[in-house]
Amino acid sequence: MSQAHRSCNRAIARRRFPRCRTFGRLILMGSAEEENDRRRALKLILGAGFVATIAAVASSLRILTFVPGAGPATTTTGALSWPRLRAVNAKSLEVLKPVRFNYPLDNTPNLLVKLGVKADNGVGPDGDIVAFSNICQHLGCFYGFQPPDTSPPCNASFKASAAAGYCCCHGSGYDLLHDAKVLFGPAPRGVPRVMLEYDEATADIYVVGMAPPNIYGHGPPGVTDPDQVLKYDLQGGQIVNQITLSSG
Ligand code: FES
Repeated sequence: MSQAHRSCNRAIARRRFPRCRTFGRLILMGSAEEENDRRRALKLILGAGFVATIAAVASSLRILTFVPGAGPATTTTGALSWPRLRAVNAKSLEVLKPVRFNYPLDNTPNLLVKLGVKADNGVGPDGDIVAFSNICQHLGCFYGFQPPDTSPPCNASFKASAAAGYCCCHGSGYDLLHDAKVLFGPAPRGVPRVMLEYDEATADIYVVGMAPPNIYGHGPPGVTDPDQVLKYDLQGGQIVNQITLSSG
């Protein structure tokens, strides 16, 4: 027991301070009116402290849940949706000459190529035009396009038997004729396909979304649920509103 408590108890026992009371661990002495004033002041102080604590916790949570970059694309109903954008006219493409473009974000590059032979999910009059994320699913390097019968600059001992993607970081290979499945190397899964639509009337090719899995670095690796892929792929950059092609 504190000295104040002992003093107060003695005072109460001697009836010298009949108003001597305790408030929690605090000792209050004086008239009933003074005591009520003190109690009101203490409640105000404790109430202000509680509000300040709640505000600090809310502020911390906001920082922890901050997601950088642009928010996801939305429709007027608020639902997530992929941008649908004209990419290129099929007649302008040369066989085995890839073009690159960013989609759906300005920091997510893709490779589009006319393979010259029919491919899984290929579009165009010959079903040979495909597009894939250019980001390796192993650790996020950009892989290169490897035409048939050629070797990548980093590995002269490998020669592609068919059009492939080859990642020089750790040697992963992707089969571009078969939905960019893994041919070899440490990549745990194929790279995402860019979904394309072909307009027979104009020969224009549109990009309309990304097939699972999610783009490397956008959400946890290997997400396959289409709704989750949409959510993650649209976070972490600016959503593009037009397609700009580059060669190489
Ligand atoms: S980042 Fe492509 S193989 Fe490692």
